[in-house]
Amino acid sequence: MSRLVVVSNRVAVPDDGPARAGGLAVALREALQESGGIWFGWSGKSVARPSEEPTITEAPPVTYATLDLSRRDHQEYYNGFANRTLWPLFHYRLDLAEFNRQDYAGYLRVNTHFAEKLRPLIRESDDIWVHDYHLIPFASELRRLGVGNRIGFFLHTPFPAMEVFLALPSHERLARSLCAYDVVGFQSMNDLRAFQDYIVHEQRGEILGDNMLRAFGRTLRAEVYPIGIEVETMQRTAAHAMQESQLRRLVKHMGDRQLMIGVDRLDYSKGIPERFRAFERFLQKYPANQGRVSLMQIAPVSRGEVPEYRNIRAELESLAGHINGVYGELDWMPIRYLNKGFPRDTLTGFYRVCRVGVVTPLRDGMNLVAKEYVASQNPHEPGVLVLSRFAGAARELDAALLVNPFDHENVADALNRALAMPLEERRERWEAMMLRVHDSSLDKWRERFLSVLRAVPEGGYAAA
Ligand code: F6P
Repeated sequence: MSRLVVVSNRVAVPDDGPARAGGLAVALREALQESGGIWFGWSGKSVARPSEEPTITEAPPVTYATLDLSRRDHQEYYNGFANRTLWPLFHYRLDLAEFNRQDYAGYLRVNTHFAEKLRPLIRESDDIWVHDYHLIPFASELRRLGVGNRIGFFLHTPFPAMEVFLALPSHERLARSLCAYDVVGFQSMNDLRAFQDYIVHEQRGEILGDNMLRAFGRTLRAEVYPIGIEVETMQRTAAHAMQESQLRRLVKHMGDRQLMIGVDRLDYSKGIPERFRAFERFLQKYPANQGRVSLMQIAPVSRGEVPEYRNIRAELESLAGHINGVYGELDWMPIRYLNKGFPRDTLTGFYRVCRVGVVTPLRDGMNLVAKEYVASQNPHEPGVLVLSRFAGAARELDAALLVNPFDHENVADALNRALAMPLEERRERWEAMMLRVHDSSLDKWRERFLSVLRAVPEGGYAAA
């Protein structure tokens, strides 16, 4: 088996503590352990004078190679173009997208620099797998440096509809860069269709069947690979979580009241203000639930240096304060809003004791919380998932109560229906969802992508 080189903005270096690594990190590490290889990317640090050479951590058969960013690169590449331009644009938030030439130059500069630093570490037979919107130009930079290896790319976010993508001044350069890969993976059919649409209608490219396409003088495979979770691990952890002290505290405090749960990075794409408003509407429209049901919203702060993220934080504090002030009682608060993260083991337990999982992003590539909520349920007494139709997960989890997060009335009704749902229907829906969660487990996702990448003929498709 050829060696694997994984490239991603964040790298889960084992020294950072394995307990902190999320499911994706574990899956990528496993892939690297099977074939040996390198995990390359940003160290997570921005410093005044970054070292020219990567920091190497050897954990045979895997080598971790990370680079620090200068403060300017961090600002322009990460806070700037990645998170103030691409992120809002890919999540359909043109109103929040900043188009700044300097940030774009910084984004290209970091991609070029990273590619130059990885180049000497690559062997001719390596397969290279690049992740996410921070690194779209990475393959074209490697190709410029003479790398002819198989290179795959997986986009963890949505790919926007053509008309939205066209608003990006550098749309053509980015699309050309995507076509420098041999395999491009998307989360859902929507994303693939949007990409194909752009390639055909804007670039006069050609769809060749069997998910192949030709554009910018290259032939590549563009396909859907819905990402998943470690299902069995999640189930096992959730079943044992009841022994945890935090969970026992929560259950004791709940008494005979019901809890709904939302868990998201504090990000405007997650639709948390809209969720709070829908919850308020639910309390108004179905007042018997006042004093009986609370929404627990866990939202650890994320990308805190980006102004739009500071704004959403302030908006949520004020909204939660308003709702709790108006509806709260001495012994009951409608919203429990926590700006901190919890270990995944604890979260699985929270999911299990909460009757309703509220996953209502305005737009999301996949949303693994939806799948984690389902996998964590007690099979004999599962809770109900209320899921936004704009999350990639809605394609698979169509047995959830699907909602339009922009329509508060619709979400309020779904919350009420979820609470009142008879056990038999809860079980039926849960079983249907579990089948889908198993179908696209994290292992299957990884194996599918890598087997397609490894099947690319030497020299790429055009050479075949
Ligand atoms: O695709 C979105 C994503 O990059 C995820 O992979 C990750 O969980 C999240 O954003 C983390 O964001 P950041 O690296 O900016 O903290």
